[in-house]
Amino acid sequence: MSLAAMVLADRSDRLVGFYDRWIDVATLGHAGRVRNVVLGQIAPGQRLLDLGCGSGTLAVAAARAGAEVVAIDRSAAMLSLARQKAAAAGVAVDFRQGDVAFPPLGGERFDVATATFVLGELSGDSAALVLRRAAEALSPGGRLVIADEVAPASLGARFLVGLLRAVQWVVSFLVLEQVAPTRRHPWRTLLAGAGLELVPERSSRSGSLVVLVGRRPADLPRAVLAVAPLDDVLPVGVVRAVLRAAAWLDAPIPVRPGVYRVGQPGPAGPVLLTGNFLASVEAVRGGLAGHGAYVVVEDSQGWNVWCASDAGLFDAEKGAALIERYGLDTLVDTRRIVVPRLGGRVRSRLAALSGWDVDVGPIEARDLPAFLSTGISPPMLSLRRLYGRPERVRVAALTLMQLAVLLLPLRLVPPAYRRPTQDFALLAGVLLPLAHDALPGRTGISKASALGGLVALSGVVAGRLRLREGLVILASAPLVGWIYQSSTPVIFWKRLWR
Ligand SMILES: C[S@@+](CC[C@H](N)C(=O)[O-])C[C@H]1O[C@@H](n2cnc3c(N)ncnc32)[C@H](O)[C@@H]1O
Repeated sequence: MSLAAMVLADRSDRLVGFYDRWIDVATLGHAGRVRNVVLGQIAPGQRLLDLGCGSGTLAVAAARAGAEVVAIDRSAAMLSLARQKAAAAGVAVDFRQGDVAFPPLGGERFDVATATFVLGELSGDSAALVLRRAAEALSPGGRLVIADEVAPASLGARFLVGLLRAVQWVVSFLVLEQVAPTRRHPWRTLLAGAGLELVPERSSRSGSLVVLVGRRPADLPRAVLAVAPLDDVLPVGVVRAVLRAAAWLDAPIPVRPGVYRVGQPGPAGPVLLTGNFLASVEAVRGGLAGHGAYVVVEDSQGWNVWCASDAGLFDAEKGAALIERYGLDTLVDTRRIVVPRLGGRVRSRLAALSGWDVDVGPIEARDLPAFLSTGISPPMLSLRRLYGRPERVRVAALTLMQLAVLLLPLRLVPPAYRRPTQDFALLAGVLLPLAHDALPGRTGISKASALGGLVALSGVVAGRLRLREGLVILASAPLVGWIYQSSTPVIFWKRLWR
């Protein structure tokens, strides 16, 4: 059973209270069994570091069994639940709020570290960094125990779980929420990448969940990844043309996250951060116009920076993890990174996690050379430039496509109501981008409502529409506007500066 649904519970503070019941149901009871296997790896008196402790079930059980436990989670609501559990059990657990990739540990060492059902919530780079941090926090010979999801063994179960994940992906695509399925990283490779030696005899499997144990050797090998040319991850030929067309319509086309170089950057950099949306990465490369640079491509799940930032998918943690993993501070001596303006809200957190200076760059990659040479923050772009003709054509195409899908249920409605809605949707899909500036209101909904009012009123007065049809248009206009506003780069302008 997929862990994916369960993730909902720990992404909303209001649902946290249901987490324990939820995870048991979502894993068909395997989660409890797996935690018992993990507990079996911890001896009384040992120092345990529990990463992403959630509601504290494992941390509290380990403390009851005589371990000395430090448990870290970023969610205050989860930690409060965990503290209540520890108090009820009468045990002391040192709960700390923080990010597991940048754990609040002052050089402490542990005998065992655990990460149960956490790593699948993280990008590959963040998960790798968490494992590296955990390995560094272990005493030589200490063990890291991870429990997470793998593909089910049987074909039937694979199909069912695959279906569930596909549905979640589509839902997350449509509503741009953070409820993407959990990831099944290549766990053994990740353990090895963190410098740990797999202990096969202690590893096991329960349903779709796996427990893997890694041992820390006396000397941890250095683990810095090599920076490759950016061209290595960009598709070529027909594939590129097809993917670019899909990216033009805002489909989340990903490239492999990592740190890449464009041209031959020197120790002065510059270092630029972007999301792993194909079109963004290509825009950065093109915008550099021959300048050398290191480009940090973080895993925004294939979304453009603006959308990903709004959905919380473009975050400071992933960027900071990449800076660490690729040892960027050994490649440049300026410790300065430029973040795109539409993702500028990561600025202070990224500075705090990485210790780097963070500059907010231009909105558009074509302004990068000017920004890099003057160092001056670009002025706000005018609406005319940000929402020029090519962008309006793109938004019209995107709006019409979304309307075609979202209005499909109208097939169930009698033609008398369906037709005016469809005709208006078609007209508005084209007119809203073209007449955007002329229509009153700040949001797509208000602009579409105004357009709907105008069309309905003029149609009824001229005798081309019945009153009933005019009312149907008025009622459907907000929905059309909502779809339009989700496609424009300008409607939520103010939200960009949150
Ligand atoms: C699915 S729960 C697992 C909780 C617990 N380990 C268990 O076995 O039930 C994942 C937990 O990881 C936490 N988490 C996810 N990403 C994190 C991060 N980057 N830093 C700290 N905690 C994180 C979430 O807040 C959540 O409590």
